[in-house]
Amino acid sequence: MLPGDGIGPEIVAEAVKVLQACAEIFSLSFEFSEAPVGGAAVEVSGHPLPEETLSLCQQSDAVLLGAIGGPRWDHLPVERRPEAAALLPLRKKLGLFANLRPVLLYKALIDASPLKRGIIEGTDILVVRELTGGLYFGEKKREKIPGGERAVETLVYTTSEIERIGRLAFEAAQQRRGVLHSVDKANVLESSRLWRETMHRLHDDYPDVQLHHMYVDNAAMQLIDQPRQFDVIVTENMFGDILTDQASVLTGSIGMLGSASIGGKVALYEPAHGSAPDIAGQNRANPLATILSAALMLRYSFDHEAAAGVIEKAVATVLEQGYRTAEIMQPGCREVGTAEIGDQVVTALATL
Ligand code: IPM
Ligand code: MG
Repeated sequence: MLPGDGIGPEIVAEAVKVLQACAEIFSLSFEFSEAPVGGAAVEVSGHPLPEETLSLCQQSDAVLLGAIGGPRWDHLPVERRPEAAALLPLRKKLGLFANLRPVLLYKALIDASPLKRGIIEGTDILVVRELTGGLYFGEKKREKIPGGERAVETLVYTTSEIERIGRLAFEAAQQRRGVLHSVDKANVLESSRLWRETMHRLHDDYPDVQLHHMYVDNAAMQLIDQPRQFDVIVTENMFGDILTDQASVLTGSIGMLGSASIGGKVALYEPAHGSAPDIAGQNRANPLATILSAALMLRYSFDHEAAAGVIEKAVATVLEQGYRTAEIMQPGCREVGTAEIGDQVVTALATL
């Protein structure tokens, strides 16, 4: 467990509670250990990703992350900034090239979204975001020029990087409804042209999957205009970062979006949202994204579909019973805190 910063410790505690309840129900046993990461690690060791934290992750079967970063550490030089010097290297060093973000609208939350019911009803999308390439990891440069500075980012993708994420996405589509949208900006970017050509070629191996290519600007519009057309979306790192925050609105809240970062020996499970420093320590954060990430951990790292499914059902049950954290509160529902909604998930688990 890497609780991290802001609301991280509170939401990870709830996910652990739920895992422990699952252990009892399914006669499993988990061994938990914890290490500091992000700003929390800067405070105790001076670096956001201490050696001991990385090696603990490498020796674990899976890693559950809370959240990283906050205004307190924003002024740090990039070599010690939580996002750039902890989260990204952690993903890279663990070889986690694929980030799976299920965008599933729970029926009870239809009216929690600012989008119209008729548009979002039935939303069930899996976004497969490439996680260790693109602008996040390309060479960067800052130099002084007359009149100011010049900043350079580099966007690199190789055929093999596109192939491995592409295959993973085609296989995911085969397990679902068989529709894959590959999102790029091939009308402008060379890396996207390679992306599109590679996806097109891979398609020969997956004739049972319907492949569509879509430009990212159009995809941003289609996502909130006709979300039901999407089954699996595969896209490069930064497009995936942006589109998944947007897609979370389809589910009522970014507090509902869990994720699995996979591809290496040890996978990392992380909610798609940030550390929400404005509500940290107030028992107001929504822990469901982290609890749903723990369900993904049971599914992908521990191959325990039954336990994963039961957690997802328990989340649905709690929402149907009307329990809500503040950011998804609706008329007629009951507002509860972080720990209380975690307790309700545990209670629901026992009845399923
Ligand atoms: C995410 C986050 C991270 C990202 C940040 C915190 C570096 O926004 O997981 O979506 O951009 O990947
Ligand atoms: Mg993001």
